[in-house]
Amino acid sequence: MNELRHLMTPLDFTVDELDRLFDKADDIKSHLASYAHSCDGRILATCFYEPSTRTRLSFETAMLRLGGKVIGFADASSSSASKGESVADTIRVISCFADICAMRHPKEGAAMVAAARSGIPVINAGDGGHQHPTQTLTDLLTIRSLHGELGNFTIGLCGDLKFGRTVHSLIHALARYSGIRFIFISPPELKVPDYITEMLKSRNIPFEEVIRLDDVIPSLDLLYMTRVQRERFFNEEDYVRLKDFYILDKEKLSRAKSTMHVLHPLPRVNEISVDVDDDPRAAYFPQVQYGLFVRMALILTLLDLTDEHMNHGLLKW
Ligand code: NCD
Repeated sequence: MNELRHLMTPLDFTVDELDRLFDKADDIKSHLASYAHSCDGRILATCFYEPSTRTRLSFETAMLRLGGKVIGFADASSSSASKGESVADTIRVISCFADICAMRHPKEGAAMVAAARSGIPVINAGDGGHQHPTQTLTDLLTIRSLHGELGNFTIGLCGDLKFGRTVHSLIHALARYSGIRFIFISPPELKVPDYITEMLKSRNIPFEEVIRLDDVIPSLDLLYMTRVQRERFFNEEDYVRLKDFYILDKEKLSRAKSTMHVLHPLPRVNEISVDVDDDPRAAYFPQVQYGLFVRMALILTLLDLTDEHMNHGLLKW
C-alpha cells in the first residue's frame, strides 16, 4: 500500500509531479464526462473552520463531478470545535468516515497538526495568513494554460502582500521555475514578509518592490490582484485607510500589454472595477474553473486513482 500523502504547501509536490497533475487537470477539462465515476463510493470531508465560498464549493463540486460524495461543515460553530474539541481529535473521527479531507482553519499550521494525526489524506485549504496550496495549484494551472508555460514572464503581485496567503504560496511555488521576475506592488504597511524576500535573495531571483501600480503595469505579463485581508488586521482604521489603495480600472488597464492576463484569487472587493470584467485580459473567472479541474486532479492523485482513467476513448473499438 502506498504511503499516505497530504498537501500542506505547493512544495509538497516536485515540479515533475506538478506537471503530471496539470496534465491530468487538462485531460479532465477536455474529457470531463469520462471522469464521472472515477471516485464512485469515495467520500470527501470538507472541514471549514473559517468562511469560504469558492474553495469549499470548488472541492465539493470536484468530488461530486468525480462521482464521489461529500460530508462536512462550513464553519467552526457547527462543528464540535465549539465544544472545545481539538483539530487532532476531529481529524481522527473524520478519518473513520471519509476517504480524504480538505481543511480550512484560521490558525497557521492547523492542517499540519491534522495531517500528523490523520488516517486519510489531508489537503490544506488555507491556514491563517500562511499558505493556500490549492489556490496556488489553481494559479499555476491558469498561468500554464494562458501564458503557455510556467516561466519566462514578469509577474506583478498587487495589494495585500503581507496577509495574503495566496500570494505567499504562489511566490514559493513560482520560485522553482526559471526566467521569472517578480514585481511586488503594495503600500509600505502591506509589503511581502521579509522571510519571503530573503528566500528570493538567497536564490538570486529578481524582484522589485514598488508602491505605484501605474509605473510598472506596462512591463507586466501577468498581474495578480489581491484583496486587503480585513479579517487579519488588528484595527479597523488601518483597514479603512488601505482598503482602496489599488483599484484596477479600464483606464489603468489601457496601459498594460494586450497579452497581459489579470488574475485574482477572489473574492474581489473594490480592487478590480467591474468594467474590467469584459476585457479579454481578465482571467479571474476562468481561473475559478481551472481551480475545479486542478482539485479534481488533486483528489485523484492523493487517492492514488490517476492511472485508472487514462484509457477514455481508447477502448471504444
Ligand atoms: C483567498 C483566501 O481564502 O485566502 N480566497 C480563496 O480561497 N479563493 C483569497 C482571499 O480571501 O482574499
